[in-house]
Parts: sequence; C-alpha cells; structure tokens
Amino acid sequence: MAPSLDDFQGRHGGGVAKRSKVTIVGSGNWGSVAAKLVASNALKLDSFHDEVRMWVYEETLPNGKKLTDVINRENENVKYLPGIKLGKNVVADPDLVHAVEGADMLVFVTPHQFVEGICKRLVGKLGKDVEAISLIKGMEVKREGPRMISSVISDQLGINCCVLMGANIANEIAEGKFSEATVGYRYDRAVAAKWVQLFTTPYFSVTPVQDVEGVELCGTLKNVVAIAAGFVDGLEMGNNTKAAIMRIGLREMKRFSKLLFPSVKDTTFFESCGVADLITTCLGGRNRRVAEAFAKNRGERSFDVLEAEMLHGQKLQGVSTASELYEVLSDRGWLEMFPLFATVHEISTGRLPPSAIVEYDGNSLEVA
Ligand SMILES: NC(=O)c1ccc[n+]([C@@H]2O[C@H](COP(=O)([O-])OP(=O)(O)OC[C@H]3O[C@@H](n4cnc5c(N)ncnc54)[C@H](O)[C@@H]3O)[C@@H](O)[C@H]2O)c1
Repeated sequence: MAPSLDDFQGRHGGGVAKRSKVTIVGSGNWGSVAAKLVASNALKLDSFHDEVRMWVYEETLPNGKKLTDVINRENENVKYLPGIKLGKNVVADPDLVHAVEGADMLVFVTPHQFVEGICKRLVGKLGKDVEAISLIKGMEVKREGPRMISSVISDQLGINCCVLMGANIANEIAEGKFSEATVGYRYDRAVAAKWVQLFTTPYFSVTPVQDVEGVELCGTLKNVVAIAAGFVDGLEMGNNTKAAIMRIGLREMKRFSKLLFPSVKDTTFFESCGVADLITTCLGGRNRRVAEAFAKNRGERSFDVLEAEMLHGQKLQGVSTASELYEVLSDRGWLEMFPLFATVHEISTGRLPPSAIVEYDGNSLEVA
C-alpha cells in the first residue's frame, strides 16, 4: 500500500516510539540551518531528545575566540550563519567522537572532500542501530570507480544512510522563507518517515522518494550546471542562453544518473531535488556567483583564488564535482555524450575560454 502523508509525518507513530538523539556532523552555512530546523522540531516532538548536538570543525576567529565557544554563548554561528539564532537546545562540540556519543540519528552536512576523513574517525564509535542522512552534495572518485557520499558513509560505518536534497539555498531557509526538499530512502519507509518528521516545518516541506541515488545525483550534478550558468551570466549572454544551459544540463544530469544507476527513476527529476534545485542554484547559488566572477575575469583569476576571496571559508562544490565527473567520463569513454559537463571542467581548468560554454557540438546533445 502506498504511504499516506500521515505515515510520513509520524501521526500513526509507526516505529517512532523511542526518543532519538540527533547529532549534526558539520556546522557550515547549510549545517547551521539544518541544526536550526532540527532543533525546533526536537523541542516540539516527543520522538526526539530536546538537545541537538552539532560537531564543529574548530576555528579561531579573528578576535582570538574559539568558534565553538561563541556558538554556545551567543547561540549563533557568527562565521557561517551570522544574525540567525540556532535554538538554545543546539550544543556545539569540537570533539567529533564526543559529539556522536549516544546518538541514534546522524545528519552529515560537511563539504564532501572531508567526509572520508570524518568517517575514518568514527569507525567503531557508533551504536549498531544508528541511522544516518546525508545533506552533502558531491561524489568520491577512486580508481575502482565513483561512489556517492551516502555510500561512503554507509560502507565505512556499516550504517544505513538516506539523503536529503532540494532547492535549498541555506540563507533563505534560515529566514523562514518557504521551500521544499526531498528525502531519498532505500528500503525502510519508517526510517524515511522519521527523517521527514525531523526536518518538516511549516516553511520547509519534505517529500520522501524511494530513490537514494537519483536524489543524491540530482543534488550533486546540478552544481556543475550552475557553474555553466555562472559563465553565461559573466559573459552577459542573457536569459534564453541560461535557460538553454539549464535544459541541456538537466538532460545530462538525467542521462548520467541513469547510466550509472539504471534504478534511478524519471519522476525524481521533477521533485525538489531535481528541476527545482537546478533552477535555484542556477539563479542564486554560490557556484553560479563565483563562476560569473571567473568569466568576467576571462578565466585569468583561478577558482581557488575567487573562492577564498568571495566565500570567506565556505566551499565551492561545482568545480571539484566537475573534475570528479570528468574523470568518470574519460574513464568510461563517455565524454562525447556529456559535452556540457566536459566543457565546464575544461573551462574551469583553463583549457578552454569561458565563451566555449556555448561552442560545443550541439548535435551530440540530442543523444537519447
Ligand atoms: N549552503 C547551502 O546553501 C547549501 C544548501 C544545500 C546543500 N549544501 C551542501 O551542504 C554541504 C555542506 O555545506 P555548508 O554550506 O554547510 O558548508 P560551508 O561551505 O558553508 O562551510 C564549510 C565548512 O567546512 C568546515 N571545514 C573546513 N575545513 C574542514 C576540515 N578540514 N574538516 C572538516 N570540516 C572542515 C568549516 O568549518 C565549515 O563548517 C555541502 O555539500 C554543500 O554542497 C549547501
């Protein structure tokens, strides 16, 4: 029988009797907003402990104070989410192992390049029934092939891992502006229901979909399309061109996802994690913004320099994902099938000028 909304909101209490302890693993821009969403629900709902711990990668602020101390004193992540109160039940902890001690539910939300190192430190430290969810966009590419971040978490820690992706520019959600998200789950509907319950607020509407890889690949690949959209903006090519880039990008997202995982569902691309996230990222996200600056500077200032200058410690994901994607495409002989993805990488690494974003062979785009 298909799940009803009540099932997903936990109103029938299916398997959610135990009070779960939640830890957020990460405390950047989105990590802090996730903590705020979860903390407001943890206080309201009987199925969760009030206290939500948040692991903080410790930093010393310019005034000499530790970020963790400031978060706990002011209830605000002054570096990554200034001006927003997180909720008094959020407790920042710089000790990763201590932060996850006794937790039943782990929310992973760090830039993807740090996940493997974090998981290594957590091996053997978690309870056996711990459930995880990844809000992380990106993939890991090794000689053996690409792995999604949820699989890195699952495989390294031996735990189930769902994903949450969507049209979610963190600062807008922090201000309580309405948005939607998608939870991707593998087998267990009750587990998905609990994550939906934990994240849903009147301004954050979460829908479950049984398609982990589809949801995660949408969230990951759209950052590459956003880099292309930024090039178009930097070159002042206008809205028609940007819409074309978004359409072509969506096609490549779908084609790549289905080649890598034939189980990926067409319908996933119409959820918040798909077309909606693509649109918001190509209109407003940090990847688009930095790529715009790159194109305006005719590629003469590198992405590393622009990232450091414009993002103040926040991380770009689109450029590293384009590089990882390029490795997969070359390795599998798929480069010609993905001209937009390949061109983004070639521009980002200085092999082609930004104007090349509209100069590849359009015919190859029509491959089904
Ligand atoms: N910000 C958004 O609007 C948004 C929205 C949806 C998804 N995401 C995704 O969420 C994930 C996390 O992004 P974010 O916006 O929370 O982070 P961020 O880019 O704002 O901040 C970077 C974080 O990395 C931490 N860090 C730096 N060096 C580290 C190290 N060596 N080890 C571990 N951590 C280190 C910093 O302390 C900081 O917490 C990314 O995958 C991103 O794509 C972000």
